[in-house]
Amino acid sequence: MPKHAKKDFPVTKVRRFIEPGPVVLVSSQYKGERDIMTMGWHMIMESSPSLIGCFIWDQNHSFNLIRRSKECVINLPTFDMVHTIIGIGNSHGPAPDKFAQFKLTAAPASKVDAPLIAECYANFECKLVDASLIKRYCLFVFEVVKAHVATTPRYPTTVHYRGDGVFMIAGRNVSYRKQFKRVNL
Ligand SMILES: Cc1cc2nc3c(=O)[nH]c(=O)nc-3n(C[C@H](O)[C@H](O)[C@H](O)COP(=O)(O)O)c2cc1C
Repeated sequence: MPKHAKKDFPVTKVRRFIEPGPVVLVSSQYKGERDIMTMGWHMIMESSPSLIGCFIWDQNHSFNLIRRSKECVINLPTFDMVHTIIGIGNSHGPAPDKFAQFKLTAAPASKVDAPLIAECYANFECKLVDASLIKRYCLFVFEVVKAHVATTPRYPTTVHYRGDGVFMIAGRNVSYRKQFKRVNL
């Protein structure tokens, strides 16, 4: 007997099953103007160098700031920030300034001009390394050039978007480390 009874499913909605990555807040700055957007569509493309592919819709104000400045910060918020995550995703720059609107602290980065969001668990300073897919797919390939990560807890309570306004909250962790081939760790 098959494990699951299945039915036809709209291909436009399969993303809900393969969007496990945490929702992040992307901060950017260009010529003194700054912005923040919520982002769920991203993927790891390489670990060394540390490459992350990000879908940034061209209708977002952040798209222009990031394309022009060629950099951004990917900030990792936690569940306690869920209303901020949604609020930022519901609003568009350039005004009002989202740092002020959502009472977030802009901290200086070390390798990019875009500000870090101090309230987030982690901040990854990124430089655009491949712009060739932006026009066709709104896909930015970034290299993380500096990472700031909280020392505790080890596994932050991140939120993961499942579509339709539903989030999965990071939960139980189980380690199967001993069963892994070293190269896959
Ligand atoms: C949970 C969630 C996930 C989102 N993921 C993305 C994404 O991956 N890419 C994107 O371009 N917009 C995404 N958005 C929409 C942007 O966050 C939204 O358009 C934002 O307001 C853009 O702000 P800006 O115009 O100031 O740049 C998401 C919104 C939410 C609430």
